[in-house]
Amino acid sequence: MRTKIVAGNWKMNKTFSEAENLISDIAEALDDMELNNTEVILCPPFVYLEMATDIAEESKFGVGAQNMNDHEFGAFTGEISASMLNSIEVKYVIIGHSERRQHYQENNELLAGKVNTAIHHQIQPIFCCGEKLADREEGIYFETVKKQLDDTVFQLPSEHFQKVIIAYEPVWAIGTGVNATPEQAQEMHRYIRDRIAEKYDPQVAENTTILYGGSCNSKNAGVLFMQPDVDGGLIGGSSLKADEFIAIVSSL
Ligand code: PGA
Repeated sequence: MRTKIVAGNWKMNKTFSEAENLISDIAEALDDMELNNTEVILCPPFVYLEMATDIAEESKFGVGAQNMNDHEFGAFTGEISASMLNSIEVKYVIIGHSERRQHYQENNELLAGKVNTAIHHQIQPIFCCGEKLADREEGIYFETVKKQLDDTVFQLPSEHFQKVIIAYEPVWAIGTGVNATPEQAQEMHRYIRDRIAEKYDPQVAENTTILYGGSCNSKNAGVLFMQPDVDGGLIGGSSLKADEFIAIVSSL
């Protein structure tokens, strides 16, 4: 049975003390919950990761970074490597978020390198894919997502691909308050799973966790997560308040 996941992508938000309070509140709430086959992952900014992994040691959540460099080490001022993340017990990393593709020109070639490096350092990529509004309006959303997968995670051998978590995040739904309908999410998740079956095999496809992201909140999470191929969510804005985030975790 594939693992269900709710991951919080905090983006560039919170001061240190706010971050500490939010993580502690979430940790406390999780203590009282039965998390059957469900993982909760928090992805705060880099500077709070070690504090988060310290708290996580005694709690029921895992910690992920929001980005990392594709190189092993060296003269890359301002960058963070996979081995640095691994050395402070970070187990996941978001790769290919649309904001990084858009604002930092991250292309599929670079993202393929990042995914590879992460896996070689025992960090599970949460790989984001998703079409822009224009792609959807033109009716080329399946092709767009297929290319994003073909050029990156589908370059991995099966053994490595099995470490990847996919997040389908239609760009038009991110931070807009307009979520994909459950039918739109299910249709794309099914499509992605079928492509995985075609590229690898049906068992690998069955075991791959595919998250939905884009204006997911405590009101729409239940119906989105009920879809057979939606295995949880990557949550932005609604992961910044403990009650709201915990309500989303409870909807799984
Ligand atoms: P949102 O962001 O939930 O604020 O739409 C999701 C994401 O960017 O991962």
